[in-house]
Amino acid sequence: MAVRPILKMGTPSLMQPSVPLPREQFGSRALSKLLDDMKQTMVAAHGAGLAAPQIGENVRLVIFEVRENPRYPGVVVPFTVLINPVISVIGEAREAGWEGCLSVPGMRGEVTRPAKIRYTGFDEHGEPIDRTVEGFHARVVQHECDHLDGVLYPMRMTDMSRFGFTEILFPDLAPYDDD
Ligand code: NI
Repeated sequence: MAVRPILKMGTPSLMQPSVPLPREQFGSRALSKLLDDMKQTMVAAHGAGLAAPQIGENVRLVIFEVRENPRYPGVVVPFTVLINPVISVIGEAREAGWEGCLSVPGMRGEVTRPAKIRYTGFDEHGEPIDRTVEGFHARVVQHECDHLDGVLYPMRMTDMSRFGFTEILFPDLAPYDDD
């Protein structure tokens, strides 16, 4: 188990689409090791989520977890391993919200996304996941799954005046950097 280096925006592989995890790798030792590395890396960086391509593994696998945290008052998302995810948007509602990314350290930007989604996929044992969520939970899942298509949140922004350094925009969040 190890904390792995997180690739930063500008690294070509971050902008490449990732491939589905092959069926035979569910429940494997290799997958378990990758997930241990991802979890340690996410926790060490105070992240709410991490996608495998951010540590140089271009497979369709993300993890996320939001604990009680002054950054996201009232929001709790259980620790989730989501493999080969599929997102469908529910309804027309869109929501603007601030995002950060461990691959874009020290910055935050406002991104408008669908407010409510259904996501499906599999956990590390191949058990199906099927959830309908909204709010910050929906935002985290969309942000992480964007990484699997080579999309970083600044590429989703429509108003670059809403992009800046965390320490300036949110001085109270200084001990934490990113999502
Ligand atoms: Ni990110």
